[in-house]
Amino acid sequence: MRAYDVILKKRNGEKLSREEIEFMVGGYVKGEIPDYQMAAFLMAVYFRHLDEEETYYFTETMMRSGEVLDLSEIPGTKVDKHSTGGVGDKTTLVVAPLVASAGVPVAKMSGRALGHTGGTIDKLESIPGFRTELSLEEFIKNVKKYGIAIVGQTGNLVPADKKIYALRDATATVDEISLIASSIMSKKLAGGSDAFVLDVKFGTGAFMKGFEDAKKLAFLMLRIAQQHGKKAVAVLSNMDQPLGKAVGNSLEVIEAIETLKGNGPEDLKELSLTLGALMLELAGVADFEEGKKILQEKLETGEALDKFRLLVKAQGGNERVVDDPWRVLPVAEQVVEFSAAREGFVSKIDAEKVGIASMMLGAGRKKKEDRIDHSVGIIVEKKLGDSVKKGEAIARLFVSDRSDVESALKLLKEAYVISDSPSEPPRVVEEVI
Ligand code: URA
Repeated sequence: MRAYDVILKKRNGEKLSREEIEFMVGGYVKGEIPDYQMAAFLMAVYFRHLDEEETYYFTETMMRSGEVLDLSEIPGTKVDKHSTGGVGDKTTLVVAPLVASAGVPVAKMSGRALGHTGGTIDKLESIPGFRTELSLEEFIKNVKKYGIAIVGQTGNLVPADKKIYALRDATATVDEISLIASSIMSKKLAGGSDAFVLDVKFGTGAFMKGFEDAKKLAFLMLRIAQQHGKKAVAVLSNMDQPLGKAVGNSLEVIEAIETLKGNGPEDLKELSLTLGALMLELAGVADFEEGKKILQEKLETGEALDKFRLLVKAQGGNERVVDDPWRVLPVAEQVVEFSAAREGFVSKIDAEKVGIASMMLGAGRKKKEDRIDHSVGIIVEKKLGDSVKKGEAIARLFVSDRSDVESALKLLKEAYVISDSPSEPPRVVEEVI
């Protein structure tokens, strides 16, 4: 078989066989197929797509490129949650302890920042001492003992995705539904959970901007889960504005802790309760409405916050972060305001631009090798539908000496549209499928 022929076949819109897909993915991982041929192949897929069967083979081959975890030692149904990526999306930091406090084991493997979106692992690493790299034995031991562990993907989990994603990122081939679905589901399946709640985002800050595309992505991921005998539910959630107010690592951890204390922003709370209740439902603990009530109670009694404290302590972090997050976490001292040029109502926010602005301050990576500055980020003071006076702060930027403040301010200026008349803010949970 020749890579050239497989590329040509896909370029011409023909269907690929399992063997051809295995040849491309396997050959690329082994270094036998060079970057330029894989890049051409991905671009052909971008324009010609993979159908459901091809996507299944692609996912399967990626999943089997490395280790597939066996979590059967942990009693109970293990339910994982995944977000397709958003700006200010810190739901895992809220949902994981919340669900664990209701007795459902959470064995969570999370990712790092991708493009304009943040990553749970980077956020957790803002907590001094917090270890995100545990051995598989320690990971399982912690879930059994504390009911919760959150770690980065181990080195050998889906190595094919690491290599292919980096190439997609550099060749403008990330936002293809079949490639996103197989990238996400290969990692979820290799993580070894029994069921999945998928938070599929749409809107200006999501990889899939349109609702219909996001829905297609959700159905495709549900289908892949089903093909592997796993239960799954998808939530279509709105990303036309950052989730909550905080964007950037330490700032997001602070907002998650506030939410666990019952003081968080409404949209973050609503999405967290929805995702959490679906996890309880898949675990067979309660139906959706009952699950929401249970979780609301866990917030009110402080049990969810206690679980977060336990998670931090168990993974070597400074647990005082729960009591005094502003002091324990690194937070930039210099604050720059982005203020309104006119009076009116916020009618549009390009959330992707807000994410990139935060990245410009140092909160994300422009290149894979870049180091993240956990102390910087943005607090979004005005969201969709809010009224604003001329000169009033729309956002506060927490900056360091290395931040590109000028570029960040320029992006925020482009991101916000202020109009004369008020508009209805979107609801965060659009649909559950
Ligand atoms: N998140 C992933 O893990 N993969 C993608 O392709 C897009 C978002």
